[in-house]
Amino acid sequence: MSAPKRYTITSALPYTNGPIHIGHLAGVYVPADIYSRYLRITGNDVAFICGSDEHGAAIPMRAKKEGVSPQVIIDKYHAIIKKSFEDFGITFDNYSRTSAPIHHETASEFFKKLYEDGKFIEETSEQLYDAEADQFLADRFVTGTCPKCGNEEAYGDQCENCGSSLNATDLINPKSTISGAKPTLKQTKHWFLPLDQYEDFLREWVLVGHKKDWKTNVYGQIKSWVDDGLRARAVTRDLDWGIPVPVEGAEGKVLYVWFDAPIGYISSTKEWAAREGKDWEPYWKDKDTKLVHFIGKDNIVFHCIIFPSMLKAEGSYILPENVPANEFLNLEGNKLSTSKNWAVWLHEYLEDFPDKQDVLRYALTANAPETKDNDFTWKDFQDRNNNELVGNFGNFINRIVVLTNKYYDGVVPTPNEFSEVDLQTLTELKAYPSVISSSIERYRFREGSQELLNVSRLGNKYLADEEPWKLMKTDPERVKTIMYVGLQVAAALATLSEPFLPFTSQKLKNILAVTSSEVETQWNEVSTKEVLLPAGHTIGKGELLFSKIEDADIQKQLDKLEATKKANEVENKIVEPQKDTATFEDFTKMDLRVGTIIEAEKMPKAKKLLVLKVDTGINTRTIVSGIAEHFKPEDLIGKKVTVLVNLAPRKLRGVESEGMILMTETPAGKLVFLNPDEDQVNPGAVIS
Ligand code: 2FM
Ligand code: ZN
Repeated sequence: MSAPKRYTITSALPYTNGPIHIGHLAGVYVPADIYSRYLRITGNDVAFICGSDEHGAAIPMRAKKEGVSPQVIIDKYHAIIKKSFEDFGITFDNYSRTSAPIHHETASEFFKKLYEDGKFIEETSEQLYDAEADQFLADRFVTGTCPKCGNEEAYGDQCENCGSSLNATDLINPKSTISGAKPTLKQTKHWFLPLDQYEDFLREWVLVGHKKDWKTNVYGQIKSWVDDGLRARAVTRDLDWGIPVPVEGAEGKVLYVWFDAPIGYISSTKEWAAREGKDWEPYWKDKDTKLVHFIGKDNIVFHCIIFPSMLKAEGSYILPENVPANEFLNLEGNKLSTSKNWAVWLHEYLEDFPDKQDVLRYALTANAPETKDNDFTWKDFQDRNNNELVGNFGNFINRIVVLTNKYYDGVVPTPNEFSEVDLQTLTELKAYPSVISSSIERYRFREGSQELLNVSRLGNKYLADEEPWKLMKTDPERVKTIMYVGLQVAAALATLSEPFLPFTSQKLKNILAVTSSEVETQWNEVSTKEVLLPAGHTIGKGELLFSKIEDADIQKQLDKLEATKKANEVENKIVEPQKDTATFEDFTKMDLRVGTIIEAEKMPKAKKLLVLKVDTGINTRTIVSGIAEHFKPEDLIGKKVTVLVNLAPRKLRGVESEGMILMTETPAGKLVFLNPDEDQVNPGAVIS
């Protein structure tokens, strides 16, 4: 464990164009919160910073889709996001928003400083323009074919299929998402940050300086960007939503969202410092401060190349110490997607599982996409809860608390002489703070969470081997020692679980009656203190730390996803093209009649077929129909249907079928009849 320091920890500012989902949590907010909590409880000075990212073209786009103003959108999602983070126990020191005046001011000042210091290149270039809508097309308003992978739905700034960062003018067959028109090129003036001039600095700082301590996925991405050769990047846009470019001759232009958003970390720190009566500057300008950015892999270039170049250009800021970006989390085998509603939304999770914040934190950490993309499944979530949290952690605490109350009225017993096993258990326990610290300090939260579970495993194994419940009758003095040792493990768990399972840690501290008292053990004290829970201390009554998650709860979540899948299929359903022309004669050859179903039964050994007897007015005949999966035979009796009566008879599974009943399909894939809804029509009536 290293000496206390000042830390500025940022986590990616979420766009306010939708709520937070498990992908955001696993990739960014849960690890950042574990890290911040850990640093706080080990005595560091921490500013954990976040806020809503409210500019950029995605916001007006969403607003347009919902038929409201961009302000309505950002207010709506800012409120949902902020509240869900609070309810989930993410301990930001400040959660701001980029529409806040302090941010507009900070970002404008930053731009002006670079402008005045001559750090930008002013260039008039040709940009994509929608002549029908009379506006320049921001990257997100252009789609087309990705020049790298051929994905036909790539955006102007990025291809979500292959992850490439793009320039809108690189797209093949570009199309405006506003009018659908093919964009034209039109001249416009912009300010560019000449990233090529920062290549040497970036090589020296990251590629040499952080070769050893940065994650290989992050390092690799930066290296390939730099090796490919950096180009000047426009930091202004022709858009009417954002921070106005604060120089003359820039009317109608705003700062590029990726220029203003990372400055949001600085403005949020300023807002926090002002509220707390602190000075913000050391958190951003003192060389001894460690700046750490938590982000997802799609943000690497912005945090490791563009923002550091901006900070370097400004001149008075520190650079990030590390950027432990994560890979992506998928959901039940498919990519998480806000627009396709393929997600587990945090605010909905909290409604469905109001007291299970730690279960989700744990499931996302134990399966975190730290080195490769991972998949979240509800089954894994249930298993981790039932087997690891309930079966391991909860089980140990429950046994120790119940027995302490039963045997000693909740008073920690005085131990007798320790056996070899006792001493070994206590020694092993003392090693955990530095084992878990080492995982956390190396951003290996997944490993850290497993080490935490090893602590309760240690306790469970100890109890299972020593069997105090068996010895109580024969050797009660020995039981005192066993229970004493077990209680020390429980006290250690209360402390060591705090970063990972904060709600559980608090609950456990309450159960052990150590909250904010002298007997509360601090992180390092788990190794250094002789006694964590002293003999004579009275613990509280038991309370279950975790409860089993039933199959029905999981099925409900799976059903929700299934409904989303169906809805997406409906939305994407393509209308079949029209068939070749039929002449009037062709049509009149078809003899369509009203018929009534009078009998219906399943065709033996055929899943899809029903054998129907239909009164066609002409006669009663057998028709075999492939509708068994959509209707129960008994529900069909008496139904009026449309029948093609002169279709040449054919045998299906040995039964001759004389005609065809006309059906259509609902968007969700259910078959329905074309039934003549007039009561007066009789079987045999001609349809023409
Ligand atoms: O990718 C995103 O969701 C961005 N809103 C992240 C911004 S991070 C920062 F730079 F503010
Ligand atoms: Zn691509």
